[in-house]
Amino acid sequence: MDKPENSAALDVIMSRRSVRAFTSEEVSDEQVEKLLRAAMAAPSAGNAQPWEFVVIRDKALLDKVPAINPYAAFAPKASVGILVCTDPEYEKFPGYWIEDTSAATENLLLAAHALGLGAVWTGVYPDSQRVSAFRALVQTPERIIPMAFILVGYPQSLPKPADRFLSERIHQNTWSS
Ligand SMILES: Cc1cc2nc3c(=O)[nH]c(=O)nc-3n(C[C@H](O)[C@H](O)[C@H](O)COP(=O)(O)O)c2cc1C
Repeated sequence: MDKPENSAALDVIMSRRSVRAFTSEEVSDEQVEKLLRAAMAAPSAGNAQPWEFVVIRDKALLDKVPAINPYAAFAPKASVGILVCTDPEYEKFPGYWIEDTSAATENLLLAAHALGLGAVWTGVYPDSQRVSAFRALVQTPERIIPMAFILVGYPQSLPKPADRFLSERIHQNTWSS
């Protein structure tokens, strides 16, 4: 059976951009659940799903984020932050948690965009200071590794889609073709 092209899905992928300025409107718990359902729909090595998520709405916690990552200075203005972590105990194939949690993170960003929200991935792993600081911020067990911190809110404005297609980065069958 021919699978029909889903142009709405492609539009979401091609128009997603990072949003770092948010209005004061709050993102609802129902929307956060949709984001997390999308994140957990991601592929993972051996279908291990080695992720855990900490939803942060407490402004006192969000206010501490810029001191952990100066490139997340806008965190206090977000409605919600979602810390994407791994618990290595879930892993079936050691080491693949980085790809697994990254796939979940991208799914979450795309879902936010599809819902009319704005979101940005801010880096945590492999910066060991940020990993330790986020662990302390949300009081995880020591084995938990925070991988990314996603800030979500209603966008003040939407950045224009970016065309990053580079045909010279594509190789056919062998590298030097
Ligand atoms: C691993 C990773 C770490 C990132 N860390 C930050 C960050 O700390 N602060 C930030 O503002 N953006 C961060 N970004 C977002 C990138 O700057 C952004 O995705 C990139 O400039 C492309 O822009 P776009 O997302 O609007 O397409 C990060 C993105 C990734 C994938």
